[in-house]
Amino acid sequence: MKKETNLMDKVVSLCKRRGIIFPSSEIYGGIGSCWDYGPIGVELKNNIKQFWWRNMVYYRDNIVGLDASILMHPRVWEASGHVEGFTDPLVDCKSCKRRFKATDITGETCPDCGGELTPARMFNLMFKTQMGPVEKEAGIVYLRPETAQGIYVNFINVLNSSRQKIPFGIAQIGKAFRNEITPGNFIFRTREFEQMEMQFFVEPAAADEWLDRWKEERLNWYYSLGISKEKIKLYQHKPDELAHYAKNAFDIQYEFPFGWQELEGIHNRTDYDLTKHAQYSGRDLRYFDDIAGKRYIPYIIETSAGVDRTLLTVLVDAYREEPERVVLGLSPRIAPVKAGIFPLVKRDGMPEIAGKIKDKLCRHFKVFYDGGGSIGRRYRRQDEIGTPYGITVDSETLKNESVTLRERDSMEQKRVKIEDLVSEIRNKVEF
Ligand code: GAP
Repeated sequence: MKKETNLMDKVVSLCKRRGIIFPSSEIYGGIGSCWDYGPIGVELKNNIKQFWWRNMVYYRDNIVGLDASILMHPRVWEASGHVEGFTDPLVDCKSCKRRFKATDITGETCPDCGGELTPARMFNLMFKTQMGPVEKEAGIVYLRPETAQGIYVNFINVLNSSRQKIPFGIAQIGKAFRNEITPGNFIFRTREFEQMEMQFFVEPAAADEWLDRWKEERLNWYYSLGISKEKIKLYQHKPDELAHYAKNAFDIQYEFPFGWQELEGIHNRTDYDLTKHAQYSGRDLRYFDDIAGKRYIPYIIETSAGVDRTLLTVLVDAYREEPERVVLGLSPRIAPVKAGIFPLVKRDGMPEIAGKIKDKLCRHFKVFYDGGGSIGRRYRRQDEIGTPYGITVDSETLKNESVTLRERDSMEQKRVKIEDLVSEIRNKVEF
């Protein structure tokens, strides 16, 4: 257990040291459970999002994208059931004033100080804010707690404008906000996070089959990210664990250093959401099947993944220590930097050649030029952030326009012509 806890500490420390993730507002003492992605972290995050987007939207003819606004009409959250039911039971400690989710507490007293606890009361997890300059009840809007509702309220818009026919899906990546009672474990549970959600609209009779298909598709996506297969599993929700909208649900779980936890939810949401929005908005949200000649509200199979949670997963899964170095064995596809470019020495025209290589490669990939220090140290600095390739300009380059290409995991080196570098690297890093 100690070793595993250490892994989290090491990952958090690496993130800070190498510009992957910083505590938010750190110069003011930080703010609970908010994190900022640094120069390396933002590349990793963008790559994960792009890897998902390509898989969902580019590789499939039956899924289209959407980017709905975070602020929506407040009636959306009444219709969705969030105003009424998106709550957790909360208890306060009367002595130390700490707050806990009632379901996380086993005994009768405060787990921190042994103090007396208040009775549980329901606490809504949605953040409220004010729309416009007037502070009155009518101006209250919510920061969305899931991106899904932006898709449901646009179902007819997308259907009419994209010429899709059922079965088809709408995919979206965006921020979501939840006033979690107990955030924690670094970026695992935060109050502001990003989701990658896809809502797949199907004929009701086909829902079970599509749920099975999406379970497989989504597992394969995590495998293609290079995450260890033995650390991923599916977990089916028991009836009393199902969300208010779900008829059947599976979590994709990962074995984090703090235990098996949800990485993604895959739900059969039935016709719950569209039926509710039809009722609350007064609009007809039925689909017309022109072949069967019938109108119906489709069922929805949802795949809902967290960007930040996926990022934490790839970090802890990839982190390894070797006698001489720390390596992030990230899939080259999502590695923040694809190649480090190094002149062996600062003379004989090597920096100039390395600079030209950088100018050429940066049109294709994120690369990093590092001109100083021992070559071993320069390699190791890139290993630590998962850079799959090191390119060294050396004395042979001056003779035959070839460079040393070093591979991160095997540390094997081979000679490659400068003109072949783009295709050589592209083979490994392209999605
Ligand atoms: N639309 C369905 C939905 O939102 P969920 O299981 O509540 O389902 C889906 O959330 C995913 O969003 C989770 O599997 C997780 O990856 C991510 N997520 C949820 N709450 C989060 C939080 N507080 N911090 C980070 N990620 C979170």
